[in-house]
Amino acid sequence: MKKILVTGGCGYIGSHTIVDLVENDFDVISVDNNSRSSARILEGVEKITGKKVKNYKVDLCNFDDTFAIFQENEDIEAIIHFAAFKSVSESVEQPLLYFENNLQSLINLLKCVQEFHIPYFVFSSSCTVYGNPDVIPVTELTPPKPAESPYGYTKQMGEQIINEFSKANPAQCVLLRYFNPVGAHPSTHIGELPIGKPANLVPVITQTAIGKLSQVTVFGDNYPTRDGSCMRDFIHVCDIAHAHTLAVQFLMEGKTNKRCEVFNLGTGNGVTVLEAIKAFEKVTGEKLNYVIGDRRPGDVVAIYANNDYAKSQLGWDPKYTLEDMLLTAWKWEQRLKVDEKFFQSKSIDLN
Ligand code: WQD
Repeated sequence: MKKILVTGGCGYIGSHTIVDLVENDFDVISVDNNSRSSARILEGVEKITGKKVKNYKVDLCNFDDTFAIFQENEDIEAIIHFAAFKSVSESVEQPLLYFENNLQSLINLLKCVQEFHIPYFVFSSSCTVYGNPDVIPVTELTPPKPAESPYGYTKQMGEQIINEFSKANPAQCVLLRYFNPVGAHPSTHIGELPIGKPANLVPVITQTAIGKLSQVTVFGDNYPTRDGSCMRDFIHVCDIAHAHTLAVQFLMEGKTNKRCEVFNLGTGNGVTVLEAIKAFEKVTGEKLNYVIGDRRPGDVVAIYANNDYAKSQLGWDPKYTLEDMLLTAWKWEQRLKVDEKFFQSKSIDLN
């Protein structure tokens, strides 16, 4: 079995991707310092796949510790790099923390790619790189606009670093631009574990419905969209996860001679904030307490993906509907109501 190193493997998208990789017969190891995640999530991965996945509790900003992982695993065939801080608001308050963490970890990893001749590198990027697009849907050729936050700049700069690296190094790279990942694995063994009060819409919705939050504030309903609220392209985290498996297979099967490929990972359907709220109420039967508030600085008005390239090149075909996304997110929230302490407690050493 080919070995894949997943950084941020205890995180939301990382853990779902590990499940998909294992189910597609890859051997997986994780690197995650658990500063923003719980190693307990790998127990959920084991419940789904039956496989214990080893996690190296290492800070990728520490080059020597990162290098040691590659010395111990000479058979790594590809890296999927998720590990990064991702809060837009926190990045505005602490830009240097974001530039140092997100870029230093990437550069350390790429130095190991070079030193250990790792042939393939997949990077977790974001639709944030498009900023506020003039035309939607966006394709991979839509020119990036100034990012709306230091977090967004770390994704734009990360893409540029990888692009230049791939021209000077045999490793082939893929940049995956996620739109808005939401939902949870249907088993409810894994899902999103927001730290503190969530910033993202769907966790705010589910925490309001379960009673952890008192209400949802819709950040503006006077935008130039069909109902005045912002528009997004919500995509199920399991569809995002499977795209990573397909991207690794795409590279390993030599399906491209490009040094660095870029793919949009969105459904291609724009959904407004108010539509998402109404869809949640309909699919769960829960009445949601929401109010209209002021606009949130830095918010993109409307964005959704043209995903033709990922469909044609990767054979990717997102299968979860908006209702699936919201229902799995709700079932996961209900599970957390029972087991939240489980994820906050120290994990037993799995390895
Ligand atoms: C979505 C919409 C809010 C909360 C972020 C990152 C992006 C990507 C996905 C990593 C906006 C509105 C939200 C609330 C609201 N992350 N909203 N009330 O900002 O589109 O994207 O997550 O790849 O990089 O920037 O996601 O869920 O925060 O907001 O009205 O309580 O929901 O204004 O229009 P966003 P979000």
